[in-house]
Amino acid sequence: MASLHRTRNDLGENIRKASVNVLNGTLTDMIDLTNAVRMAHWTMKGPNFIGLHEMLEQFYNELFATADEVAERLVQLGGTPDGTSQIVAEKSRLAPYSQQTTYTLDHVKELADRFANLGKSVREGIDSTDDAGDADTADLLTGLSRDLDKKLWMLEAHLQEK
Ligand SMILES: [Fe+2]
Repeated sequence: MASLHRTRNDLGENIRKASVNVLNGTLTDMIDLTNAVRMAHWTMKGPNFIGLHEMLEQFYNELFATADEVAERLVQLGGTPDGTSQIVAEKSRLAPYSQQTTYTLDHVKELADRFANLGKSVREGIDSTDDAGDADTADLLTGLSRDLDKKLWMLEAHLQEK
């Protein structure tokens, strides 16, 4: 990782480096997931179309807003966001999203897998940033993880069988 930008923030450099790494991993996955959610919003067809179409619009707007907070937090710590399309494609830890998926519930399953994967890595990030001594980043990630869990629930509720 490139060296950090200077800041008057009193957190030690090693703590800030660790947090920037965690936040950049979270950022690339969030941008990738936001794009997947938008693809589903655009391409889905099938039962519950309008409810899912509108729910996913809310999801991508909220994910986009939180990705901004994640990127700005890592800049505050002296980092540089991994925010370009090229870097996101290279570094995202989520599975590539298929352009061919159309059926509503297939999209819901694909998205639920990815929300669960991101939720898991964000939870790991909460622990590592908290252990390192950056309570503010842990707090930001805690809010994000609660939101990801809620969205996972809203997706999984569509997959309930009788
Ligand atoms: Fe739209």
